[in-house]
Amino acid sequence: MNKRTLIIIYLVLLAPICQAAATRKPSGKEKKYVSLIILYDNYVFTEGLKSDWGFSCLLKGTEKTILFDTGTKGKLFLENIDKLKINPEDVDVVAISHNHGDHTGGLLTFLGKNSNVSVYLPPSCSNSFIQKVKGTGAKVFIPDAPVEICKGVHLTGPMGTRIIEQSIIVDTAEGAVVITGCAHPGIVNIIRKSKAILPKSIHLVLGGFHLSRKSEAELNQIISEFRKLGIKKAGPTHCTGDRAIQMFKQAYGPDFVQMGVGRILKIEAISN
Ligand SMILES: [Fe+2]
Ligand SMILES: [Fe+2]
Repeated sequence: MNKRTLIIIYLVLLAPICQAAATRKPSGKEKKYVSLIILYDNYVFTEGLKSDWGFSCLLKGTEKTILFDTGTKGKLFLENIDKLKINPEDVDVVAISHNHGDHTGGLLTFLGKNSNVSVYLPPSCSNSFIQKVKGTGAKVFIPDAPVEICKGVHLTGPMGTRIIEQSIIVDTAEGAVVITGCAHPGIVNIIRKSKAILPKSIHLVLGGFHLSRKSEAELNQIISEFRKLGIKKAGPTHCTGDRAIQMFKQAYGPDFVQMGVGRILKIEAISN
């Protein structure tokens, strides 16, 4: 094959293909992800971070960056945030599940780093605590019903009678993700309400399930309710209790999600 023939082959066959590849526009459908980052928990997932009784989870990749609960000790909370290379100033919204110190404890310390946020508090917080939060300059909201705090992220609004608590529901391409603080109103009740607020399949439920005083029969009943409600994955942690966590691990197998400080979960975001 001589040089002239090779040039002709290139011009006729290969050049249009190369040109098309070079001018191809991006499809505009690149996948986006929601990240859930555990900042405070009774268990350690990533070495170098510290565990303590309490819970906090950061939600990134949604319209707003949301901090859900703030652990117990402000100093330890900020240390974990720092080690995870999270800038407190990136947070837009803080939501507090309930008025227990292992969820509210780091709030004022956090607001000392960034008070340019909206804070959603449960109605059970004391007036003096609410005034302290307002005193930092943060905007305070106390929802009395379900509320969408940004596109695709809902709070259940206050639930329960004895200990009032709200949970967070995140819409993702995989289904709903429900995050609980301590689940005092009952984990199954919270899931049922979440389904009513965001009527789609539930991909994952994570957080404190508060099951340490339940009998084995009660725990089996709860796990079977999870199955009936179609919950694909479960990430029990914090106040759930070791025995209950083990039972979820056994029942869910590969769909059990190991939690702990430093755990980062990436889930495909809903498309806009
Ligand atoms: Fe708790
Ligand atoms: Fe609690």
